[in-house]
Amino acid sequence: MFELVNEYRRRRTLEKHPEGVAFDAQWGTETSAFDWGNYEPSRPSVVAAALDALDVDVPNTTFVDWGAGKGRVALLASQRPFFRVIGVEHDAMLHKIAEENLAAFDARGGRQAPVYFFRGDASRQPLPDGPLVLYLYNPFGPDVLVPALQRALRSDLRVIYVNPLEELVFTRWSVLASGGEKPWAWRIYAPPE
Ligand SMILES: C[S@@+](CC[C@H](N)C(=O)[O-])C[C@H]1O[C@@H](n2cnc3c(N)ncnc32)[C@H](O)[C@@H]1O
Repeated sequence: MFELVNEYRRRRTLEKHPEGVAFDAQWGTETSAFDWGNYEPSRPSVVAAALDALDVDVPNTTFVDWGAGKGRVALLASQRPFFRVIGVEHDAMLHKIAEENLAAFDARGGRQAPVYFFRGDASRQPLPDGPLVLYLYNPFGPDVLVPALQRALRSDLRVIYVNPLEELVFTRWSVLASGGEKPWAWRIYAPPE
């Protein structure tokens, strides 16, 4: 029975996320099956488009994925020369898979930036000083997001928000760039002055 369910999930994943499956085949990772909790991975081309549109000094900037899941976004970001890349995930199983994926990615020489995966509540995790890009693919709702953003605020903060379900939270922020179409619309926000 479990075999059948797993096969169903594998096929569903292949149909819905061919780009993700190609990413995993290239790097020996497993980021594609959204088979645990509310994990659903970002599509690689969406991440690439948003990263291309950033107006930051990449080598001096820390990239943080709040709700890193199996780590795909952090690994994609680490292909660019960020100062560091951090992924925070509260689920133990997903965090473990992210660590395994990092090892596989490293073994094939995928990384340009250091990557750190932490297990914990992303909304409470301390953030490093300095220029910061936060990546959000709807890890939590507005009640958690608003105070978490307050703690992250700084003039050189940028937020990449994919499938922005809680757009209203950013009403007073500036949209610096945007692209994609539902459900893969993305925005880059800068904080209010
Ligand atoms: C939609 S998935 C996005 C995964 C990844 N960021 C990506 O785009 O490929 C959201 C993730 O947020 C995680 N998450 C939800 N609330 C969290 C919290 N408070 N702290 C850390 N992770 C959280 C979930 O377990 C899930 O893996």
